[in-house]
Amino acid sequence: MRTNEKPFDLRSFLEDLEAADPDGILRIPEPVGIDFDVTAVAMELENRGRAPVILFEKVGDSPFPVVANLFGDRRRYAQALGVEDSDLIETWGGLGDRTIDPVVRETGPILDTVITGDGLDLAALPILNHFAEDGGPYVTNGIVVARDPDTGVRNASYHRLQVMGRTRFGTSLHSRRHLWNYAQRAARRGEAIPVSIVIGHHPLFAFGSGLWKGPMDADEYAVAGGFMGRALELVAGVTVPVEAPAFAEFVIEGHIVPGEEADEGPFAEFTGYASARSTRHVIEVSAILHRKDAIYQDIVPGISDEHTGLLAVPMEARLLKVLRQNYPNVTGVAMPKSGTCRMHVYIAMKDPAPGQAKNAAATALGEDLSLKLAVVVDDDVDIASDRDVMWALCTRMQADADVDILKNCMGAILDPSNHDGLTAKMIIDATKPAGDFPPRHTIPEAAAARARELVAKYST
Ligand SMILES: Cc1cc2nc3c(=O)[nH]c(=O)nc-3n(C[C@H](O)[C@H](O)[C@H](O)COP(=O)(O)O)c2cc1C
Repeated sequence: MRTNEKPFDLRSFLEDLEAADPDGILRIPEPVGIDFDVTAVAMELENRGRAPVILFEKVGDSPFPVVANLFGDRRRYAQALGVEDSDLIETWGGLGDRTIDPVVRETGPILDTVITGDGLDLAALPILNHFAEDGGPYVTNGIVVARDPDTGVRNASYHRLQVMGRTRFGTSLHSRRHLWNYAQRAARRGEAIPVSIVIGHHPLFAFGSGLWKGPMDADEYAVAGGFMGRALELVAGVTVPVEAPAFAEFVIEGHIVPGEEADEGPFAEFTGYASARSTRHVIEVSAILHRKDAIYQDIVPGISDEHTGLLAVPMEARLLKVLRQNYPNVTGVAMPKSGTCRMHVYIAMKDPAPGQAKNAAATALGEDLSLKLAVVVDDDVDIASDRDVMWALCTRMQADADVDILKNCMGAILDPSNHDGLTAKMIIDATKPAGDFPPRHTIPEAAAARARELVAKYST
């Protein structure tokens, strides 16, 4: 954990990152367009196996620089938390239990510039067009903070936000979690939901707010404080009764309008498809707040390493924690990119008792509606490797006994293969059958060490 007293914000994280690893940030000084260029550069780097933070100094006509791909590499998640890369998932799992109440200050840098009334125009921000099929420019890094219409508890969640006019967003609450529930309850009473949309903050803020999935009565500004290890500093909202983080780069205030719908989408989703499926909600904007010299942060959408990593890391942590409550012999959980980091999970177990692998798989499938395949393997299988998991399927699984299918479960609406929101969920037990089973072949450690020496010496 950090101990110095620098504010936790996006710019301090970028400074720390550059100090620790000057190659961790790729600066592009040349002007780029607002349409597609940022995504194209990020995807080009990804295709070359590189994942720096990318800082575009000049994007379109905007005075604001654009940072993208901050979450494109898991090592940066560990760096934000101040832990070793190998401890990321276990550390994350323990952090949501700790809360620290936020403090409200009189003023803060987010109030450097406040735009309301006739001056409002979302075109003032470098909101990007990302993929050819998208319905328009999207805020991809907007953490929408709202209060429960009955209890007032604050929830925070990422939602795609399509610019549909100077003061209007179309959005989709397709994960059907807390904000969706708020919107359903408020709409029944004809009430609007005030929101504060946070764009650009320290990664720990994102981890504890937009990415955290907890019970409905948890205040997610307090959970963010728990992740940060200190109270989140807030200022009162300007046009809404929802506070804004004092050290955010941008905050957009507005209301989810009851009874109104928009043709939101299509949008490049984590599934790898341009998705037109949307809950069609509308947000009417009432204020834009930003810091002096604000940095606009974009998340590369689609099936990029950045978007899918943001889905995988919190869910791996959550599943590991939930599974271990009943099965302490679960040694690891991985959400593979081949399953969009969202719909498939690999679970490793040490010496599972008969039937235990299927119980663990069923627990995982029930924990998140998006999951549709759970594969359980022994702990000698590398769950970070699709190839090793497929080898376990090939050599340890018989489909007639080891595969089970749950039909007509609630599934991810973004999965283009589902049936009106319903999905089948599959369990594969690819652990070794009980009784005699051949051992995996290995190389003695002394020979492996000697081989490393020889290869280092003679191989170029
Ligand atoms: C980059 C990113 C974009 C997301 N976009 C959406 C979205 O457009 N709609 C949605 O319903 N969920 C979206 N999600 C998922 C929710 O933000 C996520 O499930 C969140 O944890 C829900 O919070 P809650 O459980 O507190 O309601 C997105 C997640 C990420 C990481």
